[in-house]
Amino acid sequence: MRSVYLMEGENEAVRLAVKDKADETRRQLLETGLSDYLKAGVKIVDAGTGVGVVAEQMAALAETAAATPELILLDASEDRLQVAKQRLEQYRCEKTFLPCDLAHVPLPDNSMDYLFCRFVFEYLSDQRAVFAELKRIMKPGGKMVIADLDNISTSHYPLNPELQYRLDAIVSELQKSGTFDFHAGRKLFSYFHENDLADVRVHAAMHHLFYGEMGENDDFNWSTKLQRLVDLQNKGLLDLDFSVAEFADDFLAFFRSPGRFSYTPVFIVEGKKR
Ligand SMILES: C[S@@+](CC[C@H](N)C(=O)[O-])C[C@H]1O[C@@H](n2cnc3c(N)ncnc32)[C@H](O)[C@@H]1O
Repeated sequence: MRSVYLMEGENEAVRLAVKDKADETRRQLLETGLSDYLKAGVKIVDAGTGVGVVAEQMAALAETAAATPELILLDASEDRLQVAKQRLEQYRCEKTFLPCDLAHVPLPDNSMDYLFCRFVFEYLSDQRAVFAELKRIMKPGGKMVIADLDNISTSHYPLNPELQYRLDAIVSELQKSGTFDFHAGRKLFSYFHENDLADVRVHAAMHHLFYGEMGENDDFNWSTKLQRLVDLQNKGLLDLDFSVAEFADDFLAFFRSPGRFSYTPVFIVEGKKR
């Protein structure tokens, strides 16, 4: 059974659109060799597309290269795929929007050329099963790229011990429940190795890097993430002996202070199916 998407909520489409950094997304696509696949007849997948911010950069790069690959966007959320459809309307290349669970993708074996899947594995209850399924749809010689965060949102200085204690308790509760994996990033290389992919390369970058004043979009993203935790506690899904609403207020006060330093690395792993 598919796990419940931890961030599901009425403003998730807005959050995903607001938090994207288009330049960084484009850089990650180019760094992992998308340009080699921008040709007519080539099939390119954005797995767990959300509102299509990655697919949009794929389409824009295809237009710059005057290429017409087919883009295939996969996501469990039909609502977000609708938003993605509107976002990609202006681009010429052929597009297919497929609502599905990534553990069961309705695409044939050995049919895709390049696949990018970012910020999805951390939400999966069975990461290995999804990796195997994504590998199944790739052509021999096709390239898979999986990107995820490690120790997301948990590295801060100077965090007072009391706030650190409550943050650690929330992380431990989410990790235990299986709804979120704070160590998804460090696991990706193993999946490529275990599945015998060729030409495996790991790229590392900084996804969050906060010092000084915080921008409006980041403030919105982090407030929304904290509100989601408050909602989970209100629904009885977090077994904690303190109020997450109070934690959220205290944490945001810390996080908005220009003296804090916070970071989250992203690992981007690429490899080719043999
Ligand atoms: C944080 S968003 C990532 C969006 C985009 N890939 C990006 O880099 O911005 C995660 C997306 O993965 C989707 N997702 C999570 N688990 C899934 C599953 N098992 N099958 C299909 N989609 C899933 C969610 O619906 C959500 O839209």
